[in-house]
Amino acid sequence: MWLNPNLATSGVLSVTLLEEMAAAEQRLRRCSGLLKILFPELEGRQTVIESELVKTKRLQHALDCTSGSSGEWFMKTDHMLPIAGSIKARGGFNEVLAFAEKVAIDNNLLAADSDRALLASKSVRELFSTYTLSVGSTGNLGLSIGTLAAALGFKAVVHMSNDAKDWKKHRLTNSGVLVVEHIGDYASAVDAGRRDALADPHCHFVDDEHSVMLFAGYAAAAAPLAAQLAEQGRKVDAEHPLFVYIPCGVGGAPGGITFGLKSLYGANVHCFFAEPVAAPCMLVQLAAGLDSPVSVYDIGLDNVTEADGLAVGLASQFVAATIAEHLSGVFTVTDDALFKQLQQVKLFEGFELEPSAAACVSGPNWLSATESRRSYLREHDLERRMKDATHVIWTTGGSRVPAQEHLRFQDRGAQLLANSSE
Ligand SMILES: Cc1ncc(COP(=O)(O)O)c(C=O)c1O
Repeated sequence: MWLNPNLATSGVLSVTLLEEMAAAEQRLRRCSGLLKILFPELEGRQTVIESELVKTKRLQHALDCTSGSSGEWFMKTDHMLPIAGSIKARGGFNEVLAFAEKVAIDNNLLAADSDRALLASKSVRELFSTYTLSVGSTGNLGLSIGTLAAALGFKAVVHMSNDAKDWKKHRLTNSGVLVVEHIGDYASAVDAGRRDALADPHCHFVDDEHSVMLFAGYAAAAAPLAAQLAEQGRKVDAEHPLFVYIPCGVGGAPGGITFGLKSLYGANVHCFFAEPVAAPCMLVQLAAGLDSPVSVYDIGLDNVTEADGLAVGLASQFVAATIAEHLSGVFTVTDDALFKQLQQVKLFEGFELEPSAAACVSGPNWLSATESRRSYLREHDLERRMKDATHVIWTTGGSRVPAQEHLRFQDRGAQLLANSSE
């Protein structure tokens, strides 16, 4: 675990990003009717792109190394987010919907205050079919962007590294999305996509490394989480600290959520990222400082991990700079731990996660397990407040994974758990 020496007690948040976050919250709300038309399975849902906050009593009882004396554990179940099935839904949908609104308004087919259901009309679809939305992705962002873009009638192209999971490629192809594979890692796929898109004036490239729209959409998760915590009777203030653990790839999703939560709770929320041992790109960048980009390859790591959503060698420089004073720390997770943890979540809570999504299950224990880690609690005068703490483990993907893949993940997890108990 790396603790951030630059964490500020009252860090300043960018006003522009706060405005974009509020705009994203409004956009996702005003487009909920449109999304229900495009995806009939959303009918009957009160909030269309939201997941439940679940109290994980059985998991905590089994794993908590403090035996319950450090507050209560919850799971923010973004692996169940509809349509996209991952944490990439809010950001991806925000950017696609913002682009759709702009194109329709610019072409006089939508007024700023019209019902967004109009975006599903025949004339608008015809217009959208002349535009392309393109993205570079390790998989889940592609599923989010590609599925919604294709449903709106845009041409959709997803650039993927050749090690992206086959089932993700098939699912995209089956939704009418063109998948372009690239030799090399995720950053090469993003780069190739960016170059292709520049050559086409009717192509919008969703840039996972730089996009404010993605970031703002992810940040929009904060307000609904605050409402869910209140519903569950969990206070968040100086006497009742909130700890949030989020898996990190390029940084957009966990960075956006951190930003959103900091805007609501300031120093009373403590955000930690989890990254694979072979790909801790945000840890490396923040520990090295922000002067120049530093990748995991620069320190001799290979970025090879089963956590495909987190297999990123170089963090988003935009996100690193934005959260540099707000992130509490980063801990790393081995691939074996990912599989064990996803199996524990299946056993105790019944949820089926993909490996990346299980990275944070060990989060609450990281803070309590050893003397050096407890230093964070001491430094922030939290030790005596821990009994009233709330821990939120963010589970980020899995509900779109085919059943046979889940079985494979869980078999591996069960095997590893059996070996470690021998
Ligand atoms: C399941 C899952 N969790 C977490 C992340 C991390 O998001 P980001 O790359 O924005 O840091 C991803 C990214 O694709 C993912 O697929």
